[in-house]
Amino acid sequence: RRTVTVGLLGCGTVGQNVLRLLERRRDIFASMGVEVEVAGVLVRDLNRERDVPPGTPLRDDPAFLQECAVVIEALGGIEAPLALLAPYLRSGRPVITANKALLAERWDELQGHALAGRLYYEAAVMAGTPVIGPMSTVLRASTFTRLQAVLNGTCNYVLSQMEAGKPYAEALAQAQALGYAEDPPTLDIGGFDTAHKLTVLARFCAHGDFPYSAVETQGIEDVTLEDVQEAKAAGQRIKLVAELRPDGDGWHAHVSPQRLPVTHPLCNEGASRNALVYEGEECGPLIFAGGGAGGMVTASAMVGDLLDWVIGFPGHVPLH
Ligand code: NDP
Ligand code: HSE
Repeated sequence: RRTVTVGLLGCGTVGQNVLRLLERRRDIFASMGVEVEVAGVLVRDLNRERDVPPGTPLRDDPAFLQECAVVIEALGGIEAPLALLAPYLRSGRPVITANKALLAERWDELQGHALAGRLYYEAAVMAGTPVIGPMSTVLRASTFTRLQAVLNGTCNYVLSQMEAGKPYAEALAQAQALGYAEDPPTLDIGGFDTAHKLTVLARFCAHGDFPYSAVETQGIEDVTLEDVQEAKAAGQRIKLVAELRPDGDGWHAHVSPQRLPVTHPLCNEGASRNALVYEGEECGPLIFAGGGAGGMVTASAMVGDLLDWVIGFPGHVPLH
């Protein structure tokens, strides 16, 4: 049996669930002849109380990365993870990340590694609902025509709570308590997290260096309880919708709140759920829907990425 040493960056909502799921899936790794050994878990505050398996090697110094065969990043932010991951990737080793802000905004540093197949990031868009996998593989045989999606669990939660009559601030506080929101939550509410995710997706179906700055972004800050109730009375729901479609010789990418009929595929039930309608000439319209935020649903994609790497599948390769 071979031992795979894993370094985990971050032990918050996502990181703690990655540790839990690694424990739960020991048998699957063992069936592939692999024992996963967590060499270190990077945190800021070693004294913070955490729900982690006994003996978890919490560290506030990233030196342990040197001895890791693969790194799983669940820190958040941009500069701190980039400073840790860039040298690690340059050493030719693989990284699994859920960090769509980093992917969207620092593609200049990451694109080459993604093209080389060392970057795995299924969890970065729609958490455990697989869309990056299909978009980076089989769907490329079809000519992409359009996609429309609900990609932010926090906004979906807030809007659905407002539909039930809850004030905006209370609904947002609940989404934060459930571990759905970014730090700071303006990333969610302002539409920026959705724009990050749309940027990541565009690199599989529009062009490989699609810039984050090309996404027109409007959030849900100005949506009132009255707007939500008025839509409800008309048989509609307000959703924060991301859209990508051809526009002349280029692409139009935007994020904005929209009123959709309740029967629309993006109006699925489930407060933190995400949904995506993908249209390709040959594959026809496809619908992906499922959990899009939360610790364990995100961990499921990250541990899935680790399994892919152990099996020998490359990471998620964008368009060349
Ligand atoms: P949390 O804030 O819950 O956890 C972040 C963790 O990273 C904490 O353990 C924190 O340490 C540690 N950390 C942050 N910055 C540093 C640093 N500079 N040095 C050392 N440790 C640091 O975030 P989440 O788990 O919710 O999110 C993590 C990532 O996953 C983000 O990129 C997010 O966008 C992404 N993601 C989150 C989802 C979710 O539903 N929550 C879903 C999909 C993706 P300490 O605990 O000591 O403060
Ligand atoms: N803050 C994000 C959301 C987490 O609410 O969708 C999942 O990416």
